Amino acid sequence: MFPKNMFFFLILTLTTASAQDDDFTYNGFGFAKLHLDGIAEIATNGLLILTDNTRLQAKGHAFHPSPLCFRNSTTGKALSFSTSFIFAIVPKYQDLFGHGLAFVLAHSVNLSYALPSQYLGLFNTNNSDSSNQIVAIEFDTNMNPEFGDIDNNHVGIDVSSPKSINSSHAAYFTNDNGAGFKNLSLASGKPIQAWIEYSHMDGLLNVTLAPIDATKPGVPCLSSNVNLSSLISDHMYVGFSSSVGSFITSHYILGWSFKLNGRAQALDFSRLPSLPHTPSKSSLESWKIGLPIILAILFLLIIITGIIFLVKSKIKFREVFEDWELEYGPQRFCYKDLFLATMGFKDQQLLGAGGFGRVYKGVLPKTDIQVAVKQVSHESRQGMREFIAEIVSLGRLRHRNLVQLLGYCRRKGELLLVYEFMPNGSLDKFLFNQPKLMLSWGQRFQIIKGVASALYYLHEEWEKVVVHRDIKASNILLDDQMNGRLGDFGLARLYDHGTDPRTTHVVGTLGYLAPELTKTGKATTSTDVFAFGGFLLEVACGRRPIEIRPSEEDIVLANKVLECWKAGTILEARDPNLGIEYVVQEMEMVLKLGLLCSHPNSSSRPPMRLVMQIMEREAPLPEMSEDGWNAEISAMGNEGFSDVGMSNSSLSSMFACSNNGTALLTGR
Ligand SMILES: *[C@@H]1O[C@H](CO)[C@@H](O)[C@H](O)[C@H]1NC(C)=O
Ligand SMILES: *[C@@H]1O[C@H](CO)[C@@H](O)[C@H](O)[C@H]1NC(C)=O
Ligand SMILES: *[C@@H]1O[C@H](CO)[C@@H](O)[C@H](O)[C@H]1NC(C)=O
Ligand SMILES: *[C@@H]1O[C@H](CO)[C@@H](O)[C@H](O)[C@H]1NC(C)=O
Ligand SMILES: *[C@@H]1O[C@H](CO)[C@@H](O)[C@H](O)[C@H]1NC(C)=O
Ligand SMILES: *[C@@H]1O[C@H](CO)[C@@H](O)[C@H](O)[C@H]1NC(C)=O
Ligand SMILES: *[C@@H]1O[C@H](CO)[C@@H](O)[C@H](O)[C@H]1NC(C)=O
Repeated sequence: MFPKNMFFFLILTLTTASAQDDDFTYNGFGFAKLHLDGIAEIATNGLLILTDNTRLQAKGHAFHPSPLCFRNSTTGKALSFSTSFIFAIVPKYQDLFGHGLAFVLAHSVNLSYALPSQYLGLFNTNNSDSSNQIVAIEFDTNMNPEFGDIDNNHVGIDVSSPKSINSSHAAYFTNDNGAGFKNLSLASGKPIQAWIEYSHMDGLLNVTLAPIDATKPGVPCLSSNVNLSSLISDHMYVGFSSSVGSFITSHYILGWSFKLNGRAQALDFSRLPSLPHTPSKSSLESWKIGLPIILAILFLLIIITGIIFLVKSKIKFREVFEDWELEYGPQRFCYKDLFLATMGFKDQQLLGAGGFGRVYKGVLPKTDIQVAVKQVSHESRQGMREFIAEIVSLGRLRHRNLVQLLGYCRRKGELLLVYEFMPNGSLDKFLFNQPKLMLSWGQRFQIIKGVASALYYLHEEWEKVVVHRDIKASNILLDDQMNGRLGDFGLARLYDHGTDPRTTHVVGTLGYLAPELTKTGKATTSTDVFAFGGFLLEVACGRRPIEIRPSEEDIVLANKVLECWKAGTILEARDPNLGIEYVVQEMEMVLKLGLLCSHPNSSSRPPMRLVMQIMEREAPLPEMSEDGWNAEISAMGNEGFSDVGMSNSSLSSMFACSNNGTALLTGR
């Protein structure tokens, strides 16, 4: 209840402070329900406009909506009253102003008979309608000699006639003893406060004036004997009246309080509406000073926000750049471009996450080239220089079956490698785990030949020997024409530079690791060939080199193929999903070549040049001796895996934790 009452109270005080009709206060007229006529109106800010500065020959009236009982019914005498208001008379042109305004007690608010031009909107010719009784206190800014006006800046008391019964020059006293007399220009355009008080005891009507910034003077400007009891009817309206003659003048009331039989409330200046802005000379001058200041502040704000934005984006796009990288300028990507290309490394741009990091799809700004951005976390600075040198030199490799490395970017703890984008993703998705699209034998053979020629290029054709170190189906990517492209070359070297301190120099993927690699830790072209052999068997058999199988002999794919070969039924090892849709000679050749490349003895593996010739049928497949295999395979089983701390039986448990059935070898 209380807050609701409080709210209601606030609303009330905004409009009129009192519930009683004979005691009200308007600090601005925003919520006031005045009786308005003529051109009078209330502005949106609560300013009462009796006449505005657009119309000539017009009158405006504003009255408290209900008449007040002005007479004591027992004594028959007029009641005392007190009122206070703030007005402003603003001429459009200085020294050319209209007639002024008046505070009015009127029997009727029907002032239709009054002339619009002069007589303050109250009278016609020189009197009022005989049926209307009017007592007006005029603030006259015109001198009408026919009515005996004393000057053009006076206060007067009019009773049903524009001829004042008494008047006085508009002025105020700064001292209570009547000293400090100061002239007050009514039409100065500045707000002026007026107090009108009538006491029935001594029959005196006092009018006091003061500028708005002064306190109420103790001595009134006009103090006149008025027998109000004989001049009024029982009920009178109170309000204001004004008219504009030939000179445009605005008459405003900012606030008003009134009380019968008592002292009117003081007005709250802080809540008064402001006067409409008139571009006077002084305000123009203040603009001259103010505008440059405002512009300067605006300019400063723009600069500050600009700096904040720059610093923020500097931090966001900060890179690590060292002097030795200067020569790699063309291969160096700007982090901001990669950030924009991948939409800020958004998850929806993620192509995959592998052992080295996450790969995002992106479109480079400006060039619109599609790329894959590999984000590799790299805390170690040690060896970074050599590694980047290698990456950059690998960037110069050009082969149609290699995924082109376009460049790199370095950030703190992070390396970004930018590759050509391969729309069809990696090969393993088409081989294992119920692929959506089965690759035909023709496609598979095409991919095998492509990868073989890429590896041959790396091993023998380029200026330096490049060992790939991690050949496997998931590192073979397919371009838009389903050509196999070898990717991620050189990346395995990252482990050499301490991405993970627990890693040894043995890198690659279990199942593709040549037995001597696990012993010596030295990657060679021959260890690549071993992995390539595993890859050949993967593609031909449609399964991973090591998979959990019910029969323990089947876990290692090479073993299974070997068994089939020994039994003289090598074709049985092929991918059963192919059915009969394959070329027998090619299948046989690929399976045998896969076995040959997977030979535990590195000297028995063919070099890539020979692999190429065999595939092109330019060279015959070397004969393989069954006996040599037996010894070597078992040696591989014992040494190859047990060497890295695992027995065949513990393999299954390890793969159970690994999603894709292959695992990176992370330590001894
Ligand atoms: C009217 O006058 C009588 C006698 O002087 C006084 O008692 C009464 O309060 C007055 N009424 C008003 C409304 O002023
Ligand atoms: C005002 O008075 C005039 C006569 O003086 C009359 O014609 C007119 O109807 C009155 N208007 C109202 C609103 O009472
Ligand atoms: C104005 O009033 C005076 C008397 O007070 C009268 O002599 C005069 O004729 C009146 N003028 C007009 C225009 O009514
Ligand atoms: C006030 O104005 C009157 C008439 O305009 C003038 O005679 C008088 O000297 C002025 N007084 C002051 C103090 O300015
Ligand atoms: C009016 O002014 C006179 C003279 O200053 C003063 O004696 C009287 O009390 C005043 N009357 C009112 C109601 O303020
Ligand atoms: C007219 O006003 C003056 C100035 O206030 C005052 O001195 C004089 O007594 C008043 N005349 C009458 C008849 O009240
Ligand atoms: C005031 O007017 C009333 C009624 O017209 C009258 O009875 C009374 O005598 C007058 N008072 C003075 C002081 O003139």
